[in-house]
Amino acid sequence: MRKKIIAGNWKMNGTIPETKALLHELLEGPSDNENVKVVVCPPYTSLYLANKILQNSHISLGAQDVSAHLKGAYTAEVSLEMLLTTGVRYVILGHSERRQYHAETDQLVNTKAKLVIDGELIPIICVGETLKQREDGQTKQIVETQIENSLSGFSADFIKKSVIAYEPIWAIGTGKTATPQMAQEVHKLIREKVAETDKEAAENLPILYGGSVKPNNAHDLLIQPDIDGALVGGASLMAGDFIAIINAI
Ligand code: 13P
Repeated sequence: MRKKIIAGNWKMNGTIPETKALLHELLEGPSDNENVKVVVCPPYTSLYLANKILQNSHISLGAQDVSAHLKGAYTAEVSLEMLLTTGVRYVILGHSERRQYHAETDQLVNTKAKLVIDGELIPIICVGETLKQREDGQTKQIVETQIENSLSGFSADFIKKSVIAYEPIWAIGTGKTATPQMAQEVHKLIREKVAETDKEAAENLPILYGGSVKPNNAHDLLIQPDIDGALVGGASLMAGDFIAIINAI
């Protein structure tokens, strides 16, 4: 039985005082749902503080990216070793905003994912099609290729240590959500694609949906058989909304 994961991707939001305020609001809850693992991914600058605030709580910490390099002359990059000292458990990889604005490729995502798993952290590997690709009937092909390349060389053991997020780009920050049926269809095909490598690992793989998840649509998405949680952007910045999503199932 796959436990649901509700993860908040704060993106480039959250000063130190804002981080402190939002995390305290979340802890005051009720944000502890026994059916759900809760994760928050604040910006790098807030991770140290967030880890202190969340210590011994039910909320886990994640980062929004990591460098593919181990250390050295890579100005502004943040290494795995640095992340390990902040107490994160999860690392979002290949978010469409990284792919779009920073030209991240499936190959880079694959390199980072292997690094993250070797470091005993859990990658949340993001995939998803653009509006044009969906309208052109290419969703299946695009998503399958992203999965194939991003998980290239993965053993069953590596799949078991990963999380996938399906985030249709046209649904991110737009208020347009994929219908539960549309999302379910893609989640199912992702699971089938991964099952080509290992059936059992695919069966246990958490696949999250992301793209305008809000309190009013979370339940219908989360009850789909292959939707194992949500990667929440905008609504994760409002404690009330994020708590409502955590308790939607
Ligand atoms: P929104 O929930 O704001 O659409 O963002 C989704 C997302 O990109 C999460 O990673």
